[in-house]
Amino acid sequence: MALSIEEMALFCKRKGLIFPNSEIYNGMSGFYDYGPLGVEIKNSIKQSWWKSFVQQRDDVVGIDGTIISSPQVWVASGHVGCFADVMVECTKCKARVRGDHLIEESLKIKGEGLKAEDIDKLVSENNIKCPSCKGDFGKADSFNLMFQTFVGPNQNKESIAYLRPETAQLIFADFKSVCDTCRVKLPFGIAQVGKAFRNEISPRDFLFRTREFEQMEIEFFIHPNDKSCRLLDKKALRFKFNVLTSKDQSKNNSHSVMSVKNMLAKKLFSEWHAYWLVQLYSWFIGLGVKPENLRLREHLKDELAHYSSACFDIEYNFPFGWKEIHGCADRGNFDLTQHKKCSGRNLEIFDEATKSKVLPCVIEPSQGVDRAFLAFLFDAYVDDKERGNVLLKLHPLLAPVKVAVFPLVNKEGLPELSKKVVDGLRKDFVVAYDQSGSVGRRYARNDEIGTPYCVTVDFDSLKDSSVTVRDRDTTKQVRVKIKSLSKIIGKLLSGKGKFEKCGKVVEKVVSEAPSEDVKEQQ
Ligand code: GAP
Repeated sequence: MALSIEEMALFCKRKGLIFPNSEIYNGMSGFYDYGPLGVEIKNSIKQSWWKSFVQQRDDVVGIDGTIISSPQVWVASGHVGCFADVMVECTKCKARVRGDHLIEESLKIKGEGLKAEDIDKLVSENNIKCPSCKGDFGKADSFNLMFQTFVGPNQNKESIAYLRPETAQLIFADFKSVCDTCRVKLPFGIAQVGKAFRNEISPRDFLFRTREFEQMEIEFFIHPNDKSCRLLDKKALRFKFNVLTSKDQSKNNSHSVMSVKNMLAKKLFSEWHAYWLVQLYSWFIGLGVKPENLRLREHLKDELAHYSSACFDIEYNFPFGWKEIHGCADRGNFDLTQHKKCSGRNLEIFDEATKSKVLPCVIEPSQGVDRAFLAFLFDAYVDDKERGNVLLKLHPLLAPVKVAVFPLVNKEGLPELSKKVVDGLRKDFVVAYDQSGSVGRRYARNDEIGTPYCVTVDFDSLKDSSVTVRDRDTTKQVRVKIKSLSKIIGKLLSGKGKFEKCGKVVEKVVSEAPSEDVKEQQ
């Protein structure tokens, strides 16, 4: 049986990954804190993304904008006017719920993209009542999702500002500054990682829909006439997605496998859009997500955001259904046009190649950090009955602790030597020293947090300056010289070495069975 989202939330709390925010005051709906191990995973996700899409490319630069900016930014972007969800209010208990969620839960049909009038019709035709008090719902209304605040000591209309609901707009607002100061030329991207805030009507599904979350976004600027993406090489053209097209959705079909070449022939997306979807889809697979748990979903025309002409989501097969973890929109030049109009500044740039001034178009790969975290966790989680404990098969790059070091027993110089081993590793990796419980228990504890390698220091270590390294996924063990340990662990973590070739294979393994106290905890 797949782990439910509630069970995942409990697991995350128990293991120090995620805590409900301000829990000592009974919590706050839609807000979560990352614990000591969670923050390591989250930081690794962000580092991997930044490295792949900014540092290892010569056509993307980064910025770090503010959370609060001139409210004009959000007027121009259309967020003040239309960044809203449809909400219904119970006339009796005054509970407010998201209209599309109410329809989905009551009628078990897709609610995304439904307008207020559609929701009113469905509520009345199906006599849908308030799930809490069975009262009648009033007319559906739109509810703006931006958090408002005041800047400065005066609290009036003039001092209203908003917490950013996406990181993207800061990129557009800084576009000219980047172009004027950095040697960028089309096509190029500007990336940003940071917090976003949305006053979700009904936050739910743990980290999936929260009110404060993080995004990693790229605005990739292209000349409006540049229709052919030279980065889309043969390998990318052969790349295969699981795809649910808008046609599939209207016919209630399930997704099918399609190559990029095939999708381009069917004019499902533009070349630049295809290129970025391949990059992001491959990023998930490269970090260990099983391809069968990923798919692309084409947005239906009536669900497209106000700024986009085409959009594909990358969805993950969560226990609560296929859900968006990434959105990749073709935004055209909607945003730059809007900011040009509202600011009165000319945001056109000179394009050397065509010797002309242009307002570039944009492909926007937009990634939620927290939803990526959730997908990585679900994908890695294995309830290993044979071992008798959970195994978190996280990609080594994402594992919160890379290596754990144990003395076999807590006496006769083994703790001292183990600490020396830890000191040798700590300058390169996140290391945990663990001396409590049986070795089997320590293995189990580290399996549960995804530690790829455990190192045991035993009596022989005192004589031969070697230790036993155990591989999380296979439980195989090799004997390795302490002086080579750091190098070997580094090689293994970066996927360059074969475990069995790293040392002398140990046939008689140190106990794998978790001790009774681990079983009790489960
Ligand atoms: N700039 C475009 C944009 O913000 P979006 O589809 O609204 O597009 C992009 O958001 C990504 O941000 C989503 O795919 C998701 O991963 C994440 N996201 C959006 N709302 C979220 C929420 N309430 N809680 C957690 N993550 C969210």
